[in-house]
Amino acid sequence: MKINGSVVLVTGANRGIGKAFVETLAKMGAAKIYAAARDAQEIEVASPAVTAVPLDLTKPNQIEAAAQRCQDVTLLINNAGMTCIENLMDPPDDAAFREVMEVNYFGPLTMCRAFAPVLKHNGGGGILNILSMAAMMCVPGAPAYSASKAAAEMMSHGVRFELADQGTQVSIVYPGYVNTRMSETFPVKKVSPSTIAARCLKAFEKGEAIIYPDLFSRMTHDKLVNETEFVQTEPQAAVVQLVEAFVEHPEAGT
Ligand SMILES: NC(=O)c1ccc[n+]([C@@H]2O[C@H](COP(=O)([O-])OP(=O)(O)OC[C@H]3O[C@@H](n4cnc5c(N)ncnc54)[C@H](OP(=O)(O)O)[C@@H]3O)[C@@H](O)[C@H]2O)c1
Repeated sequence: MKINGSVVLVTGANRGIGKAFVETLAKMGAAKIYAAARDAQEIEVASPAVTAVPLDLTKPNQIEAAAQRCQDVTLLINNAGMTCIENLMDPPDDAAFREVMEVNYFGPLTMCRAFAPVLKHNGGGGILNILSMAAMMCVPGAPAYSASKAAAEMMSHGVRFELADQGTQVSIVYPGYVNTRMSETFPVKKVSPSTIAARCLKAFEKGEAIIYPDLFSRMTHDKLVNETEFVQTEPQAAVVQLVEAFVEHPEAGT
């Protein structure tokens, strides 16, 4: 699927990777970009192709309204997400865990459901779901974030399977450390959001279903393939090894 001439809806488009998607889509010739955000006034309408859309992923009525309004969408980018820095065993209650599942799993699932008929009507189109390297392994300190992204990973594979007959391309992305507010407390070199957006869209155009868009993402994938049991049973040690190898790598942050 070509980005040039496409009509795209991006969630979480007011900042970070979502904002970079909007800018990159405009550069690549998208005909129309619906830039969705909880507060639509935060959307920078930098190009006539951009239309701001109010959208909170935890509000199904807003998702339905967006699907009704944006009937010409050919590509849905489920980018919006939140993190959850809590241990599983000793939180005050489950509120943070339920919220991260609402935003990172049920939100994108409801978006896929709402926009599937729109994409079908427009010839099939595509869905690009932004996951995380945290979907591949349990990140100590953020296990509920990992769980929500792993759930979104399996959901994405299911959506791909269920929408294959209508010709919808479903691709997933596992970013590593990206220079946005979400990862600002991690003291490692990070890849820029615009690099991630450009690589994702180019890979999507090539039809790639699974996208590792940066060095840390590829390193995590390789470690998992080569040392599956160690990574899954000793995640703390595995993350330490990965980060140590990453910071010493001459191409860290790319
Ligand atoms: N940064 C990284 O290192 C990294 C690595 C791997 C994966 N990712 C993933 O990349 C995606 C984008 O994150 P980012 O790095 O750009 O982080 P970010 O700067 O924190 O942006 C998160 C975006 O998600 C939006 N959002 C949060 N809750 C929402 C809700 N209930 N409804 C609608 N929008 C909501 C935020 O909107 P508000 O401004 O209204 O809060 C914001 O636009 C996320 O899915 C994240 O998990 C990031």
